[in-house]
Amino acid sequence: MQASYPRSSSSPSLQLNQNYKGHGLPKGKEREQRASIRFKTTLMNTLMDVLRHRPGWVEVKDEGEWDFYWCDVSWLRENFDHTYMGEHVRISHFRNHYELTRKNYMVKNLKRFRKQLEREAGKLEAAKCDFFPKTFEMPCEYHLFVEEFRKNPGITWIMKPVARSQGKGIFLFRRLKDIMDWKKDTRSSEDQKDEIPVENYVAQRYIENPYLIGGRKFDLRVYVLVMSYIPLRAWLYRDGFARFSNTRFTLNSIDDQYVHLTNVAVQKTSPDYHPKKGCKWMLQRFRQYLASKHGPEAVETLFSDMDNIFIRSLQSVQKVIISDKHCFELYGYDILIDQDLKPWLLEVNASPSLTASSQEDYELKTCLLEDTLHIVDMEARLTGREKRVGGFDLMWNDGPVSREEGGPDLSGMGNFVTNTHLGCVNDRKKQLRQLFRSLQGQKKTPN
Ligand SMILES: Nc1ncnc2c1ncn2[C@@H]1O[C@H](COP(=O)(O)OP(=O)(O)O)[C@@H](O)[C@H]1O
Ligand SMILES: [Mg+2]
Repeated sequence: MQASYPRSSSSPSLQLNQNYKGHGLPKGKEREQRASIRFKTTLMNTLMDVLRHRPGWVEVKDEGEWDFYWCDVSWLRENFDHTYMGEHVRISHFRNHYELTRKNYMVKNLKRFRKQLEREAGKLEAAKCDFFPKTFEMPCEYHLFVEEFRKNPGITWIMKPVARSQGKGIFLFRRLKDIMDWKKDTRSSEDQKDEIPVENYVAQRYIENPYLIGGRKFDLRVYVLVMSYIPLRAWLYRDGFARFSNTRFTLNSIDDQYVHLTNVAVQKTSPDYHPKKGCKWMLQRFRQYLASKHGPEAVETLFSDMDNIFIRSLQSVQKVIISDKHCFELYGYDILIDQDLKPWLLEVNASPSLTASSQEDYELKTCLLEDTLHIVDMEARLTGREKRVGGFDLMWNDGPVSREEGGPDLSGMGNFVTNTHLGCVNDRKKQLRQLFRSLQGQKKTPN
């Protein structure tokens, strides 16, 4: 079932939830019915545009009471536990989101989940979690790392700070000596603004054979919206993008971040960067490119392998994350594809960038956020039976969601074919574009 939404500017008038109560009040104290939804955010990008234009929503500043807060994770850490939230209040992160979004915890949870699967369902099932590169937490797993390092001399490793983003603090290495130097350097480093007092890293096997397009490396950014962990209820967004490096890939210069790190924040400082051209391809274009090179079946397999990554990574933290009906989270997955068309999970971001780098990017992000708000559904317009809302497809609802009406669509061996359409044309956008063109055409037609 599909909920069809016009854009915010033409949304129908709000159907108000009769049970609105303000946040921050003593429990049980009734409040008058609200005529609007009070939102708060600290972000000044596409999010603010979307929130401000949403009919019936009003901005609250400073200490004002709010119904909806798109907060940053530092607010959460300091305030979540001391904030009373009424029934209807919604907030943009889960309390311990870092179980999935900090690089070391994500790997720890995935390793544990794989072991559990092996015990309960056997090796074959456990092997379906083999989508993250071999990773060690530093410095606490240093000795284990050295053992592994010595088994495979000559391969490349990547060191990443566990809680930073945008490629900051990352470097590649092939000799143990290089991380001895790092150890010395980090001790004297002043750059310790992160959440933890001593900065931890992960040492991860570097994917040396990335799939290249035009000789360039890229990775994919995919958006997953989780509305609940118990039961797990997750939506996959159809649109996303591939982020390219500007420089041809080579393993000869492992110190060159423009070759190896595909973060936009890194690439846009490259001398070869063209602000007009940018460094992104929309997922539709990427999907079409692959289909023309490898055929539709190879593409189907790749995309269903990605579905497997989204679901299993969420399952790996399902029992760890504190499920709270006030919370939702829009995750940004970083996926790298290798030359055998195998997708690898690099990390999951709690705060994917909502800043637009081009007009196309602006459209993607504003639609993504509008659709997220439709699903969060402060206005109580959904029936709860929707399988699609805007560009989001419900992919997991306490079990796989079938693409068609009827029961779950399971295809033997525990593989699931679920209701996902990643990189498929988002026909809502197409419809809007057609409508826009026809309106423009009407304007031009003389009376
Ligand atoms: N194991 C890896 N193999 C190959 N490239 C990697 C690997 N890990 C990270 N990268 C590259 O480095 C970039 C940044 O890594 P990521 O783990 O996403 O950290 P950050 O939080 O800084 O974005 C990725 O977008 C990718 O281009
Ligand atoms: Mg990243």
